[in-house]
Amino acid sequence: MAPRCWLWWHWLGWPRIRPPSASNSTNSGFYRHFSAQKNPQICVVGSGPAGFYTAQHLLKHHTQAHVDIYEKQLVPFGLVRFGVAPDHPEVKNVINTFTQTARSDRCAFRGNVVVGKDVTVPELQGAYHAVVLSYGAEDHQSLEIPGEELPGVCSARAFVGWYNGLPENRELAPDLSCDTAVILGQGNVALDVARILLTPHELLEKTDITEAALGVLRQSRVKTVWIVGRRGPLQVAFTIKELREMIHLPGTRSILDPADFLGLQDRIKEVPRPRKRLMELLLQTATEKPGAGTAGQALATRAWGLRFFRSPQQVLPSPDGRQAAGIRLAVTRLEGVGEATQAVPTGDTEDLPCGLVLSSVGYKSRPIDPSVPFDSKLGIIPNVEGRVVGVPGLYCSGWVKRGPTGVITTTMTDSFLTSQMLLQDLKAGLLPSGPRPGFAAIQALLSSRGVRLVSFSDWEKLDAEEVSRGQGAGKPREKLVDPHEMLRLLGH
Ligand SMILES: Cc1cc2nc3c(=O)[nH]c(=O)nc-3n(C[C@H](O)[C@H](O)[C@H](O)COP(=O)(O)OP(=O)(O)OC[C@H]3O[C@@H](n4cnc5c(N)ncnc54)[C@H](O)[C@@H]3O)c2cc1C
Ligand SMILES: NC(=O)c1ccc[n+]([C@@H]2O[C@H](COP(=O)([O-])OP(=O)(O)OC[C@H]3O[C@@H](n4cnc5c(N)ncnc54)[C@H](OP(=O)(O)O)[C@@H]3O)[C@@H](O)[C@H]2O)c1
Repeated sequence: MAPRCWLWWHWLGWPRIRPPSASNSTNSGFYRHFSAQKNPQICVVGSGPAGFYTAQHLLKHHTQAHVDIYEKQLVPFGLVRFGVAPDHPEVKNVINTFTQTARSDRCAFRGNVVVGKDVTVPELQGAYHAVVLSYGAEDHQSLEIPGEELPGVCSARAFVGWYNGLPENRELAPDLSCDTAVILGQGNVALDVARILLTPHELLEKTDITEAALGVLRQSRVKTVWIVGRRGPLQVAFTIKELREMIHLPGTRSILDPADFLGLQDRIKEVPRPRKRLMELLLQTATEKPGAGTAGQALATRAWGLRFFRSPQQVLPSPDGRQAAGIRLAVTRLEGVGEATQAVPTGDTEDLPCGLVLSSVGYKSRPIDPSVPFDSKLGIIPNVEGRVVGVPGLYCSGWVKRGPTGVITTTMTDSFLTSQMLLQDLKAGLLPSGPRPGFAAIQALLSSRGVRLVSFSDWEKLDAEEVSRGQGAGKPREKLVDPHEMLRLLGH
């Protein structure tokens, strides 16, 4: 036991206490102190898919564990509520599973607590046997080009937050009075944003998109959306289902330049099947005769197009300098092969006029607390299979663990893995033994700091209110977007 413990210790890089030497440790109280804990109090930070899947796995595989999920928002579910597009309701069914977890008597949702501000990570570590950081990727990756700060430029993250009712973005009200919008980046978020901009509003009216966003979209004059990638068709980051949705958007046609796809047929022979099918669909769409689509597309008044080998260089201002009026793109060519293929500028540029620039080049995690290691280059908490490097008892899962890519099922798999590691450490006696106060200690701290906690049953009241407000308009719900109103409704 002792030598194995020492190996763990060494590997985890325990920073404060060194274990006694193996020779005198067998009967030492030191190791007994860290023997397996029967009723572990575990804390999870973040109630998105990573937080909920981690909690679910812990509760299922340790019948005595208690899990508290701390969440900065008043409401649970992270990007399932604030990211997933309103016209993808089936994806949000995972909420039913998360709700079952939250209703377990060994689990509690502690909403309206900003970890790192209302309570520190070391305070949580002192109160719980283990802490799992599952706080996602809340920032957007900036473009770092001149003009990025101009009105008319907006991150896809803020735009998505706005139409999905994220409180901090509720007042965004993007100006959609222009004819052309440019989206930079060719991932699934870019396609979500393009689809929301171009979907006929009668279709959006039946979704849980916020009424405020719907009002702005009803007045939208945007007719053309360009989705710009710095690399070629073979390197697009979106997937086939989302491309199909674009192709079948009522009243909308696609603009794809067949020249971009020359030689692609030969090059896709060797690529994995999902990418091959995606390329075939792109090729087919690019080479289809005009009018060959559905009747709706023949009468299309709106269009979307893909532009390849173009890297954002500068947002061009309007003559009075007050507004974005276009984007200067560096023409690129590819260097390298396979995954390592990189876009390098050829020296040529192209100006694309537009009134709205949406940057959709990825999300980014931020550090949560000075005590938690953070790799700012990769934008993740350094970890080995979910164990935070150098901090025993601290774990991570989801986007903050592996970076801001991957769908909900990817996040589920990696969260289960983190939970497994935690349970292994628990079994091996590597987590503190003896009782821990858990929420009782944190509640006292939060109360002394004037934090108003929101429980899962509070959320269920808000949920019922949202559903009831949506009913009149034939929507699944009308989201509450103002935290003050939510607290008022809860009688806080
Ligand atoms: C726009 C968009 C659309 C998507 N659509 C789909 C889709 O259709 N299908 C699909 O499978 N995947 C989709 N994904 C991917 C999916 O959302 C992610 O895989 C998943 O949400 C990542 O889970 P997470 O828990 O790591 O992060 P998140 O879902 O972001 O959850 C993190 C949680 O932590 C909370 N938090 C942050 N900081 C703190 C703090 N300091 N204290 C307390 N709590 C904090 C946040 O409020 C949030 O609730 C989409 C992603 C985006 C960005
Ligand atoms: N319906 C769904 O299932 C759904 C919906 C939304 C999101 N998601 C998932 O959520 C994750 C995040 O999606 P995402 O779209 O934000 O990220 P993403 O898939 O990583 O796509 C980012 C895009 O931005 C480009 N990019 C990055 N840096 C750039 C730069 N400096 N200049 C120009 N272009 C740049 C990338 O091009 P390069 O490839 O050249 O880097 C890529 O095209 C993905 O895994 C996605 O599948 C899923």
